[in-house]
Amino acid sequence: MPRIVMGIESSCDETGVGLVRLHDDGTVELLADAVASSVDQHARFGGVVPEVASRAHLEAMVPTVHRAFADAGLKLSDVDAIAVTAGPGLAGALLVGVSAAKAYSAALEVPLYGVNHLAGHIAVDTLQHGPLPAPCLALLVSGGHTQLLRVDDIASSITELGSTVDDAAGEAYDKVARLIDLPYPGGPPIDKAAADGDPAAIAFPRGMTGPRDAKFDFSFSGLKTAVARWVEAAERRGEPIPVSDVAASFQEAVADVLTAKAVRAAKESGIGTLVISGGVAANSRLSALAKQRCADAGIELRVPRPRLCTDNGAMIAALGAHVVAADRPQSSLDISANPALPVGTVSV
Ligand code: KG4
Ligand code: ZN
Repeated sequence: MPRIVMGIESSCDETGVGLVRLHDDGTVELLADAVASSVDQHARFGGVVPEVASRAHLEAMVPTVHRAFADAGLKLSDVDAIAVTAGPGLAGALLVGVSAAKAYSAALEVPLYGVNHLAGHIAVDTLQHGPLPAPCLALLVSGGHTQLLRVDDIASSITELGSTVDDAAGEAYDKVARLIDLPYPGGPPIDKAAADGDPAAIAFPRGMTGPRDAKFDFSFSGLKTAVARWVEAAERRGEPIPVSDVAASFQEAVADVLTAKAVRAAKESGIGTLVISGGVAANSRLSALAKQRCADAGIELRVPRPRLCTDNGAMIAALGAHVVAADRPQSSLDISANPALPVGTVSV
């Protein structure tokens, strides 16, 4: 069975290359996690520009592979299998990773596994906290996704319980940051500004929490609009914007809805473990509130460290190792990138 798995990630603005070792007992050990980000090149546009991201992947791919091997003290010939993000993500960006993975697979004569980016965000937690109990619940919150997932087997069985009907949670952070003149990406500066603000200063709406709303779906565009209206009104009155209070009140609304729905889903499904992952999982209020609400409900909470939560290659290597361990079929060399790969398809 393959032992050393290389993972390649290029679905958005991070070029990630991870190396892991699959042990006989099924545990997966992190050996290297090299990431090159093009985030600075997108900052002035307030969001990721696909063409710019694709070109940055092209330039960063081979150097990032070499850096991962140097960090791990391994040679290319030590690799036993290659996993790559096949989707979902930006088409052009995904293509760079898939093409690179195919080239390495053919040149090194090792099997290729095209895997799902979203499942990777969950699988990465096994690098820090060990094997996932089955079933477990995953709350995936990033710049592109906001989903509640039931995971019966990380290598083969993931079911969506709910998702956002409009903006992703991270997208809401990025848009709100713009409204209050904070830089892109908006998550970290809002998190920081909120530390000095009053989360109860402004009663922003909790989207999709009405009695007739889908229990496990999310909506953040109404919240973003509410923040925009509030800021506009204050500006019309000629008042300075209380950035910290707006940030804290907005952040409270996001964390409240995410944790309330996740805990409710866990309780209703009788699931005892919640994993929160994706870039927004790094948010201090989200993790604090999740910790408190999970403790109250008797649910075990697992949140990977921030470096593993944002896009990286280690998450793809980890998922690849679980797919290998489960003896799932390898991918053919003619797989294509699928920008809309459904979350239920763990490997292609
Ligand atoms: O998972 P990720 O790195 O990339 C995607 O797959 O989207 O997530 C990036 C998103 C951005 O929207 C960023 O604003 C958000 O994660 N983010 C945060 C924090 N750190 C990053 N949101 C809230 N609080 C944070 N501390
Ligand atoms: Zn992601």
